[in-house]
Amino acid sequence: MNQIRAAIKGIGASLPEYILTNDEISQMVDTSDEWIMTRIGIKERRILREAGKGTSDLGAAAVKELLDKTHTKPEEVDLLICATVTPDMQFPATANVISDKLGIKNAFSYDLNAGCSGFLYALSTASKFVESGRYKKVVVVGAEKMSSIVDYTDRATCPIFGDGAGAVLLEPTTEDVGIIDEILQSDGIGRVHLHQKAGGSVKPASFETVAAREHFIYQEGQAVFKWAVSKMADVSVEIMKRNNITPENLAWLVPHQANMRIIEATANRMGISKDQVMINIEKFGNTTAATLPLCLYEWEPRLKKGDNIILAAFGAGFTWGAMYLKWAYDFGK
Ligand code: UT7
Repeated sequence: MNQIRAAIKGIGASLPEYILTNDEISQMVDTSDEWIMTRIGIKERRILREAGKGTSDLGAAAVKELLDKTHTKPEEVDLLICATVTPDMQFPATANVISDKLGIKNAFSYDLNAGCSGFLYALSTASKFVESGRYKKVVVVGAEKMSSIVDYTDRATCPIFGDGAGAVLLEPTTEDVGIIDEILQSDGIGRVHLHQKAGGSVKPASFETVAAREHFIYQEGQAVFKWAVSKMADVSVEIMKRNNITPENLAWLVPHQANMRIIEATANRMGISKDQVMINIEKFGNTTAATLPLCLYEWEPRLKKGDNIILAAFGAGFTWGAMYLKWAYDFGK
């Protein structure tokens, strides 16, 4: 019998309607469209503004589209993993909320937090369940309402992040497609450079933490940048080497969308051209665990069965990694 691999069989996505432009951000803090475009590469990002709406609303909409597109009934899903750093609540898991909203009743579901590498980690975890042979339909959703933890008085972080969600369906295959290899790493030493100071068990919410604006993203941009540039490229080059992937036979790099300069540096180290790289940072900014599936969603019509694809990410933790897969279907067939 051929080895069972996990293959992506469909993609759904959801983006809030409201578009927050650089010009609008320039009215909130001392910045400019020119600075944001040259230093980060973002023109606009989507923001979920409706009161009472959270990450599960974006996640559920993405999964709903995924189920519709793949003709999957909610009750057929075996497992749903939600990668997020902005859960609806500390507990229960946003994955449980998404499953409930969609009538996914015969599955177990849980959240996974690996910062901006969350989708990659979740995809890896989900693939192991599929490869075991026991689980046939596994949904992985990356969903974030980053605007809920962004300080719109802090010019160092507020231009970067956006809201959105993307979801994929993993199924078993014995064909020569699907997830083939991965390198996942983490180093908690990086936590000092990128974290949320309060609201966890070390520093629960109090009047003081709110007054000190400690419930927002804290990032030392330059330190994170240096790590991201070297680590994301290191694992991407390593996964190419050990799978005999060359710039000529690689169809696409799908990089985390944190900064255009990090994406370009990674592509340069891999020796590939920019037209082999999925880039949508200009439109959506950094949606943390949602960047990779949002790219796949947008490029889905252009992907061909057998395409060699490398996913790569770097994020809070620090966490980082790269995954090699062969695309499993032609769009619309
Ligand atoms: O997704 C999770 C992983 N996160 C990342 O990968 C993010 C990695 N880091 C970055 O992308 C970049 O470091 C940032 C985009 C966050 C910042 O860019 P930078 O080129 O590293 O800027 P910087 O922090 O070194 O700041 C340079 C200057 C400073 O002014 P002085 O001290 O040189 O006078 C900042 O105060 O730019 C200033 N600055 C701004 N100026 C205008 C910082 N933010 C802004 C701003 N507009 N929004």
